[in-house]
Amino acid sequence: MAGGPREGRSLSLVRPKEISETVLASFQSCEDDRLRELIQALARHLHAFVMEARITEHEWEQAIRVLTETGQITDERRQEFVLWSDAMGVSMLVDALAHPKPAGATESTVRGPFWVPDSPRREYGESIIEQDSGTPTWFYGRVLDTAGQPIAGAELDVWQNGEDRLYAVQDPEAPEEHLRGRFLTRDDGSYGFLGVRPTPYPIPDDGPVGRMLRATGRHPWRPAHIHMIVSASGYEPLTTHVFDARSAYLDSDAVFAVKRSLLRDFVPRSPEDPDRPAAVSGEWYSVENDLVLVAAGGADRPRI
Ligand SMILES: [Fe+2]
Repeated sequence: MAGGPREGRSLSLVRPKEISETVLASFQSCEDDRLRELIQALARHLHAFVMEARITEHEWEQAIRVLTETGQITDERRQEFVLWSDAMGVSMLVDALAHPKPAGATESTVRGPFWVPDSPRREYGESIIEQDSGTPTWFYGRVLDTAGQPIAGAELDVWQNGEDRLYAVQDPEAPEEHLRGRFLTRDDGSYGFLGVRPTPYPIPDDGPVGRMLRATGRHPWRPAHIHMIVSASGYEPLTTHVFDARSAYLDSDAVFAVKRSLLRDFVPRSPEDPDRPAAVSGEWYSVENDLVLVAAGGADRPRI
């Protein structure tokens, strides 16, 4: 006799452990080794999470709703999935695994949700300020290799907020290319551009991530910083921040992205200072920040 309950799996007697094992086994014939490893690990941990926390039907329905809302609120200007990744510390974890740095190399940190591709190419010394946005700040330094040699022709892709806390991509009134730009280092590895002193800002908290932060007693604030992606032929690209060393929230960044080595002083400068950039008329700041890249190929990378 075929097909009776005695020969097949008894549905009424399936235990949680058997469900998990059956799901894991269902991926066993996946021919892509890495995909099989990923999907089985995901299933294993997801099932363990459900079991450990004894997830109820109501809680699981809420979880599905949160994921649905995350998709619905996401568009070209709003990336709620990146916010989840950032706010749960997963972005920093992935970054830590991908970019272990040898001593002396500039540390990496999250890219965040506000990077926009194809920022305008700008010349050495040019301003990224396209409307009044706070106290002008001269950012300067050199891009170097780990032996201290300058890297000419490295590209710095920079973006930041101003005193209204917003990145241009968040503000329909702001010029599209405001407070962002791409610069190339000169022959001596030097770069310099005029931005503004950035301000702390809350990550967008009017969606599911914001509700999670409020419900768990966390705040949405990030300390003041400017973003940089540095790339040069023959070197690993570097995604990093320059943090204002005097900012609030350095000890409680909502996305866990602060590294002490990335803190810099914003040095107050006077209008009479002979080094004052031509576009500046009043008070200004300067921030010196060398950036040290690691050679491509990982020869000088430590294992973690
Ligand atoms: Fe940011």
